[in-house]
Amino acid sequence: MDLVLGSADLVAMFIEELRLCKVKPGETVLIFTDPQYIRPDYPPAAFAAARALGAEAYILVSQGDQKMEDALVRATWQNASLILGMSMIPRGIGSWMYTETHNEALRAGARVLMVQEPLEVLKRMLPNETIRRRGLLGAKRLQAAKEIHVTDDVGSDFILRKDGRKAMYQCGIADEPGRWDHFPSGLVTCAPLEDSAEGIYVIRPGDSLLGAWHHASEKVTLTLEKGRITRVEGGRDAYELQAYMDRINDDGAYRFSHAGWGIDDRCDWSHNGMDTESLYGTVMVSIGRNIFDAPADYSGMKGENYSNAHFDICCRRKNLYLDGELIVRDNETFAVPDLDF
Ligand SMILES: [Fe+2]
Repeated sequence: MDLVLGSADLVAMFIEELRLCKVKPGETVLIFTDPQYIRPDYPPAAFAAARALGAEAYILVSQGDQKMEDALVRATWQNASLILGMSMIPRGIGSWMYTETHNEALRAGARVLMVQEPLEVLKRMLPNETIRRRGLLGAKRLQAAKEIHVTDDVGSDFILRKDGRKAMYQCGIADEPGRWDHFPSGLVTCAPLEDSAEGIYVIRPGDSLLGAWHHASEKVTLTLEKGRITRVEGGRDAYELQAYMDRINDDGAYRFSHAGWGIDDRCDWSHNGMDTESLYGTVMVSIGRNIFDAPADYSGMKGENYSNAHFDICCRRKNLYLDGELIVRDNETFAVPDLDF
């Protein structure tokens, strides 16, 4: 009985989400999943929701070890109106999000929505207009900037350049052709130039080492030179991060992927995932692959890091400046008056 009631609950929630993504009768909704997907009750619920809205719904199940470059996968992705990515393959690089198959589908006009968080998080962080507006304002600001400067009171002081790079926001809604989003989420980010990082990046106890799915238990200090992480100092967390980068063993594993800030005040910092990526006023500067791009406005990053690493790091109590102007002040976004709301 619980399973049946749970399914009904999920269907209602996915109907609400797919309406936000503007699913219309006759559109094709492709649900992409694999047998190892951690939320096996989501694909059938989303399938029912898509049908309820009059869409033509399909579920494509990859074995999990198949490549995203397979012709069949590429063809189906490029011909869908909306793709629901309910899979975390390929493992290790931030999933299908950072594949050419994904980029091609977006270029062909697909809308793409990633879904993998627990039901409690989906419900708590349902998209709304406040998050969308904060995201759009922030992305415009970040897109126009050339330099990101991050500081804090425990020794962080580093610069990232982004000259010519675009910026994006996430609000949990993929409602226009060529737009990717992650349901749920709320953040602003970009891919800094991969050779630009200079300075000291301190991860303090309690920050989220999301790439390892736990909070840091001690201080980790990264030294950044000419875009590369050249030293990792600290205790066990530092050792694990260094070991991760060394195991991937490509140059991009020591360079940054994306940088930006969270905009959703409904997040629970104790839960690693989109909660720690999206919490209002936090700063996320992550390592590794960033080749994701999308043609919709303020979607995609157009990075050039092809590493097989992807490791998200989310930090509280940092200050972030764009071209010298304070934007995020110690867990408070939009320190500038004209963007405060
Ligand atoms: Fe990431």
